[in-house]
Amino acid sequence: MIELEHVSKTFRTKTNTVHALKDISLSVSKGDIFGVIGFSGAGKSTLLRMVNGLEVPSEGRVTVNSLSVAELKGKKLRAFRKDIGMIFQHFNLLESKTVYENVALPLKLAKKSKGEIESRVKDLLHFVELDDKILSYPKELSGGQKQRVGIARALALNPSILLCDEATSALDPRTTDSILALLKKINRDLGVTILMITHQMNVIQQICNKVAVLEKGSLIESGSVIDVFGNPKSPVTKNFIRTVINDRLPESVKSFLKNYTGSQKVLRLRFDGKNADEPIMADAIRETGVSISILYGIVTELEEKIVGFQTVQLRGSEEQIAAAEKFFDERNVPKFPVEL
Ligand SMILES: Nc1ncnc2c1ncn2[C@@H]1O[C@H](COP(=O)(O)OP(=O)(O)O)[C@@H](O)[C@H]1O
Ligand SMILES: [Mg+2]
Repeated sequence: MIELEHVSKTFRTKTNTVHALKDISLSVSKGDIFGVIGFSGAGKSTLLRMVNGLEVPSEGRVTVNSLSVAELKGKKLRAFRKDIGMIFQHFNLLESKTVYENVALPLKLAKKSKGEIESRVKDLLHFVELDDKILSYPKELSGGQKQRVGIARALALNPSILLCDEATSALDPRTTDSILALLKKINRDLGVTILMITHQMNVIQQICNKVAVLEKGSLIESGSVIDVFGNPKSPVTKNFIRTVINDRLPESVKSFLKNYTGSQKVLRLRFDGKNADEPIMADAIRETGVSISILYGIVTELEEKIVGFQTVQLRGSEEQIAAAEKFFDERNVPKFPVEL
C-alpha cells in the first residue's frame, strides 16, 4: 500500500548538506500499524512527509496505492492527499476557531454542503468522544482532547491512510494510552492503515504490528514487532527495547554462567501462545536427556499476543545439547543466542 524503494533525501542549504534519508526501502501493507522509531534528527518526519508528497525524494521512488507520488500534480495531487490524514505532536489546531470549525475545515475546503458538514463533524466528534466540546476553543482543552480534535479533523474525508508524526510525544503516559487505544480503534473499526513515527518504544509495543528503526537517515532494522523485539540485532534497537522490557540477564547470572565449567549452551527461547499448552521443557528433557535450568524470563504483550521470553541453560553432552536444539526447532520454538 505504501512502498519506499531506495529513497534518499539530501537537503542542501547555503552552509551545509544534510543527508536526511539514505537508501530507505520499506513496505507498509493495508491494515498495518507500522511504526518507525528513531532519535531526534534521524529523518523520521522527512520520511513521513514523503508519503503525502510534502517532500520529494532526491533519489528513489515512493508509491502509495499504486500511484507514484512524485508524478502527481495539481488536481490529482489534491485528490490523493484527501485520502491521507495526518496528525502532529503539537496538534496544529487553529486557536481562533472552535472545535467544530477546526474539524469542519477539510470538509469546507472539499466544498461539502453545510448539512453534510454538520452531520459529519458531529459523527466525528462522537467517534473521538468529544461531543460536549463542540463549541470549545483549543485553549480550553487538555492535550489529549486537542489530539482528539486533530484526529477527528484528520479523519474528516475518510482517508485510507493516517500518518502520525510523534502524535503522543507531548502527552502524559495515561493520555498517551488513551490516544493509542483510539488509534487502534481507527485501524480496526475503520480499516485505516497507520504509519506512525515516534521516539517512544512503548508506543510501538502497544499498538504496532511492524517496526522499522531509523538511525542517522539509515534504516538499520525492520520486521514484525514480535521478531524485532524477540531478537534485536543492532545496539540502538536493543536500547530502545530495554526502555520497555528489561530482558537483560542479571550480572549474578552472567558470572555464574561464565564460571560454569561443564558443557553448556545458553539460549533465549520465545513462546507466543501457539505452544503454550504443550509441556515443551519437560518433553525436551525426556526426549533428549539434556538438563534445563531456567535462568531468567519475562512475559509481555506484543501484536495483541502474550509473548514470553525464557533464557535457559542447557547442560549435558554435546550430543544431548544438539538434540535439544533440534527439538526446539521441530516444536517451532524460536531460539536466539545469548551474549554473556
Ligand atoms: N527543510 C529542511 N532543510 C534542511 N534540513 C532539513 C530540512 N528538513 C529536515 N532537515 C534535516 O534533516 C534531518 C532529519 O530531520 P527530521 O526528518 O525532521 O528528523 P526527525 O523527525 O527524526 O527528528 C535533520 O538533520 C534536519 O535538520
Ligand atoms: Mg520529527
